[in-house]
Amino acid sequence: MLNQTEGGRRAAPHASACLALLLLLSASLFLVVAWATETAEATKSFRVCADPNNLPFSNRQQEGFENKIAEVLARGLGQAVTYTWWPQRRGFLRSTLNAGQCDVVMGLPVAIDMVLTTQPYYRSVYAFVYPEDTPYDLSSFDDPVLKELKIGVHLIGDDYTNSPPAHALSKRGIVDNVVGYSVFGNYADPNPPGKIIEAVANNEIDAAIVWGPIGGYFAQRQAVSLRVVPVVSEDESPSLLLAYDIALGVRRSDEALKNTLNGLLTQHAAEIQQILVDYGIPGIAPHPTGSPGPQQDTGASDPQASQASDEQPTASRGEAGQAAANGLVKLNPYTGNPEAIIEGEELYKLLNCYSCHGLRGGGGMGPDLTDEEWKEGTGDDTRVMDQVMTGRNKMPGYDGVITEEEAWKVIAYVRTLYKGNPSTIEW
Ligand code: HEC
Repeated sequence: MLNQTEGGRRAAPHASACLALLLLLSASLFLVVAWATETAEATKSFRVCADPNNLPFSNRQQEGFENKIAEVLARGLGQAVTYTWWPQRRGFLRSTLNAGQCDVVMGLPVAIDMVLTTQPYYRSVYAFVYPEDTPYDLSSFDDPVLKELKIGVHLIGDDYTNSPPAHALSKRGIVDNVVGYSVFGNYADPNPPGKIIEAVANNEIDAAIVWGPIGGYFAQRQAVSLRVVPVVSEDESPSLLLAYDIALGVRRSDEALKNTLNGLLTQHAAEIQQILVDYGIPGIAPHPTGSPGPQQDTGASDPQASQASDEQPTASRGEAGQAAANGLVKLNPYTGNPEAIIEGEELYKLLNCYSCHGLRGGGGMGPDLTDEEWKEGTGDDTRVMDQVMTGRNKMPGYDGVITEEEAWKVIAYVRTLYKGNPSTIEW
């Protein structure tokens, strides 16, 4: 360079300016190409952030039910699922979805406000898990026998009252006999949330009160048979369940993706339901309007609302119809609701349904209610509601005798009698 001529020196800036411009152009061209490829990539894969060690929800081997549901949705979009693995601890959403690491997080309570949530695809409950061969039945926090049992609950941090069951127990003065298990456990072990259920199976504790999916899944995998019974809380309302609607989460700005996912959830509802059943998830139909969940950025595997204040589903036909129009949500708000089904069974006897249809619905003077043959060609909920309220031929109508809510409960019970081909279910 030192030996360059005057002209050369003059030429040099020019040449380098050209080069710089070219570089700049090609760099921006490169950027454009890179951006386009990335966008294409983004539309090609269904990017999910999930916990690598959190069965029954998800794991790195993709054995969790949320992994299976993600596959169903991705297939619906013609995409493949790609994962960013991240333990579901405090800060999970901030570090993953909201940091752009992925576009979807599975299994969030609908009321979580850090993200946009889709319509719920399942609703589950807290449940008692205890050995089959006990002389007592547990379903309520108010059962006096709870004071005499050693009960395990999950804890998130070191605060003993931060999970809804722990809170409900402490409110009733049940504290000394409660044993806390970290929901995170030792992360080096497989499936930390399952430890509490192993403790029940090994008789280290008499019963556990856990989030239903954890209870249902791990109870199936013990050497002894365990019961999984949804908790009925008699706190605020006589039939309050510690239940939460669970949805998918996307970034707050991703309204379009949310709508796409809602469509997929509706379209694949039956397939998703089957996955939940296969994994032993004790559930009830999602609440038409959703239910409150935690407002904090915790992991999503356990709803862990500070205080459950879920309203009893209302059952007006209008609201239920609206729910059905939304897709996934069942027309009958009590379908699969264990408590309403018990009430429905009582009504079935009280209203003499059994005298014509048989005690277990097998039929008599009235038709069999357990098979897939329906007099009207369809056994959907609207038709059955009409049948019960208006009656037909020799069957009396119950309009004016029972409320619509009671009718839905009877119908929810009648549904449990069904023994026909599950694929023909249309309610
Ligand atoms: C007096 C006898 C009688 C009683 C009581 C009665 N039913 Fe019926 N039910 C019938 C008859 C008969 C039919 C068939 C009517 C028809 O031709 O559609 C029927 C039909 C039905 C159907 C439709 C079945 C089908 O195959 O389409 C349902 C569901 C049903 N009843 C539920 C109930 C419930 C729930 C109650 C109680 C709240 C009840 N029934 C009480 C006689 C009775």
